[in-house]
Amino acid sequence: GDVAVLVPAAGAGVRLGPGRPKALRLLAGEPLLVHAVRRLAAAASVHSIVVAAPVAEITAVRALLAPIAPVTVVPGGAERQASVAAALAAVPADPEIILVHDAARALTPPALVESVAAAVRAGYDAVIPVLPVVDTIKEVDADEMVLGTVDRAALRAVQTPQGFRRAVLTAAHAAAADALTDDAGLVEKYGVPVHCVPGSEHALKITRPFDLALAEHLLAIAR
Ligand code: C5P
Repeated sequence: GDVAVLVPAAGAGVRLGPGRPKALRLLAGEPLLVHAVRRLAAAASVHSIVVAAPVAEITAVRALLAPIAPVTVVPGGAERQASVAAALAAVPADPEIILVHDAARALTPPALVESVAAAVRAGYDAVIPVLPVVDTIKEVDADEMVLGTVDRAALRAVQTPQGFRRAVLTAAHAAAADALTDDAGLVEKYGVPVHCVPGSEHALKITRPFDLALAEHLLAIAR
């Protein structure tokens, strides 16, 4: 494999309701992070996996993941970007392709990991999986008054794994001024073109209780 995957998994998961850090919430009896890492490790291109875990859970996360795959676990940061930077600092020297994948996208199929990696290998410096936007989107002001309707045809909802040529991700992170919610955003600001590939409904980000219920159902019908 020529791919290293960084897994930011240090978020609290406030929108999921009270409980453990999100990556350790259970889905069909197993932590979200275990589901995510199992699928990453099943992708043939993946050479190494670095997880940024909640500081208080480092030992627990190492124990959870040891039976799944050889994984490096580092302490995450206060924001997602800091967690990715911590994982990036611990990545082995060899892989030329680096993917960044949210632990919360626990059911992401290995085939999506491969298609993002393949697009980087084919020559794109930065690659993101996307889906079309199904809802009509309005822009609103602070009083919830509609300012206008955005042309949906030109919009895409962005998922992970996001893939990068190693030098591009390293440089974009080093140059980052303000925190963004995704790594392709840093690369865009750095001036590098970002290529889109088709995403997967199964790569949904488990954020709210509804998403967890949907993910439970998807796993149940896949068995
Ligand atoms: O909060 P959000 O759903 O955007 O988080 C996306 C991913 O980033 C999750 O996998 C979460 O665990 C991770 N994260 C992190 N460190 C933080 C905040 C979020 O690794 N400080």
